[in-house]
Amino acid sequence: MRYSLLSLFALAAVACCPQGEVNQAADQWTDAEIEAKINEILPQLTLEEKVALCHAQSKFSTPGVPRLGIPELWYSDGPHGVRAEINWDDWGYAGWTNDSCTAFPALTALAASFNLDLSADYGKAVAEEALYRKKDVMLGPGVEMYRTPLCGRNFEYMGEDPFLASKMCVPYIKAMQEQNVAVCVKHFALNNQEQWRTLVDVHVSDRALRELYLAPYEAAVKEGGAWSIMGSYNLYDGQHCCHNKKLNDILRGEWGFDGCVVTDWGGATNTIEAANNGLDIEMGTYTNGFTESAKFAYDDYYLAKPYIKALKEGTVKMETLDQKARNILRLMFRTNMAKNRKRGCMGTKEHFQTALNVAREGITLLKNDGAILPLDPNTTKTIAVIGENATRSTLGGGSSELKGLHEISPLDGIRAAFPKANVIWSMGYGSGPECYGRVAPSPYNADSLFTEAVKAAKQADIVLFFGGLVKAYQQDMEGGDRIQYGLPFGQDELINAILDVNKNVVAVMISGNAVAMPWIDRLPALIQGWYLGSEAGNALADVISGKVNPSGKLPFSFPVRLEDNAVHSFGEEVVYPGVEKDSYREEYKEGIFIGYRWHEAKGIKPLFPFGFGLSYTQFEIADAQLSQDNLSEGDVLAVTATVKNVGSREGKEVVQVYVGKKDSRVERAPKELKGFAKVSVPAGSQQQVKINIPIKSLAFFNEDANAWEVEKGEYTVFVGNASDNITAQLPLNVKD
Ligand code: GLC
Repeated sequence: MRYSLLSLFALAAVACCPQGEVNQAADQWTDAEIEAKINEILPQLTLEEKVALCHAQSKFSTPGVPRLGIPELWYSDGPHGVRAEINWDDWGYAGWTNDSCTAFPALTALAASFNLDLSADYGKAVAEEALYRKKDVMLGPGVEMYRTPLCGRNFEYMGEDPFLASKMCVPYIKAMQEQNVAVCVKHFALNNQEQWRTLVDVHVSDRALRELYLAPYEAAVKEGGAWSIMGSYNLYDGQHCCHNKKLNDILRGEWGFDGCVVTDWGGATNTIEAANNGLDIEMGTYTNGFTESAKFAYDDYYLAKPYIKALKEGTVKMETLDQKARNILRLMFRTNMAKNRKRGCMGTKEHFQTALNVAREGITLLKNDGAILPLDPNTTKTIAVIGENATRSTLGGGSSELKGLHEISPLDGIRAAFPKANVIWSMGYGSGPECYGRVAPSPYNADSLFTEAVKAAKQADIVLFFGGLVKAYQQDMEGGDRIQYGLPFGQDELINAILDVNKNVVAVMISGNAVAMPWIDRLPALIQGWYLGSEAGNALADVISGKVNPSGKLPFSFPVRLEDNAVHSFGEEVVYPGVEKDSYREEYKEGIFIGYRWHEAKGIKPLFPFGFGLSYTQFEIADAQLSQDNLSEGDVLAVTATVKNVGSREGKEVVQVYVGKKDSRVERAPKELKGFAKVSVPAGSQQQVKINIPIKSLAFFNEDANAWEVEKGEYTVFVGNASDNITAQLPLNVKD
């Protein structure tokens, strides 16, 4: 019998990741078994072997113990999928032909989906591809708070709200680690910008630190059980975060973290601090001396020879080394020395389906005047697809870059979804190629691109403009921040010129950040499209053609002007990006007021608020009720509501529950997200949702007591479908 190539591929795909039920518990070492094995191995290791475990041997691996058959550990970027293979001792790609992956949507899109199940699907799929690529530790997810719209890496993170990021990262973590692949949650901590990222010294109130910046890491450790965490390049209170005593005391002392702290690459700066402040694994940017950077080879790393010297001199205790070795061996027994570890698979139809599902549910409809959307898939009209982002690849962005097995561009997607339409394409504007650390000039003639695009718009019945940012330096890319809030490459002028000649314009912003939108009042329809990876074009076309009803909600606010954002309202470099002349000191003067917390506390209306997203149908949230309105700290409040679909088609809605306290003895944001539920409701039907909120989760961090405290007294529970669309306000009393 002759198999077609496709059926062989499909067979292989299914064979690689058998979907049968695996009883995880029985098939894995128990914690007790792991500790017993560690106790058995540790005394057999020489000092040099233990120290070798603690630092890189190549760009993305640390040694095992060959003598004892203990394998080396392999790490790979990134949060959105398994990066193509990098050379042993330089940052070049190895040029493999079997390392093309499923490029999943950026985590901003996952956050925008508000869908916990999709987060689990995402983590599992990336883990399966990591297993196939023989990677033990995946360097993600990123959970840093969105503090400024200029941060180059916001696209890798999950927005401005600590509760959303906390909830959305946990299923991803659990699902990945169920496959015996470790997450490495990053970048711990306060890595909220790329400008001077290895130098900036962050000073922040304990309340903001705990309630905002550490919250997702606490969830990742305590709820997700993260097996490793990545220290960030920056400093906190004058000490590098990769070996920061205060952060380590919280991480291990309070949260009980038993995993490994891994530096960001080149993030270690001091042997004594690294020894004593909980750093386990030092990764690096330098090589082992065979190439130009021989001056700082792997054996010269802070946790290499200098550590051996310090141990032998007694300036650091041997116990610090044994603890590191224990943590690293534990990581190995959970990953590359786990029982029954699966083989994984790459680029399967299931993985691409997951990428499509996340993209579909992350896409956020922000404006749809006159219901211009969705477009009729059978239209024979002329559709002008304009904008470089209609064809630009998902490549770029820095370490989260992926070589997708395939990428469906928005232009591809539109052409497939509107087979009878006359689809014309015009680039409109052009950016340069992504280069690390510098802006590559655009090779295009901007004027001719502009002229051609306006001509195309003039002859079209409708324009689909794909603009936004690109994953290039000083845009959405690691290693630099944006230098302007507005769109680059003359897009504002182009959008206005298009609107001058055609009223039917749908703009799709492909970006990981908010941007200024001076043309918004003239624009009938706007979609926030995110970086959606392999299935981008299919997902965007599904929404534009109405095959999918959009259900995304913004994970961060879109300020009208940059100055409306908390950080930039101060207009002080000490607030952002730090003071170069003062050892890059930066003070988070906005405290707990970032994002919608700031906008609502100051009464500054954003262009689009946190939690906002439209649908092609209409929902009503009714009958919101509290299980009880007088509870104590150990209780769980149940908030119920009915979601009615009063429109003409099925849709998904995200019920959001915020809680505020007016007469608090400490300053507070007017309200904070404390619960959400996403639900699908057929047209004309209704669905009940129930959202449980532990009263403990209402605690604020009492700086004087250095402890969490649930303040007693009156609260207000806000129920709605966006931070600025609250349909019920219910009183709640928290009693002694
Ligand atoms: C980079 C990034 C980090 C990445 C690591 C390895 O500098 O900050 O997110 O995982 O190095 O590429």
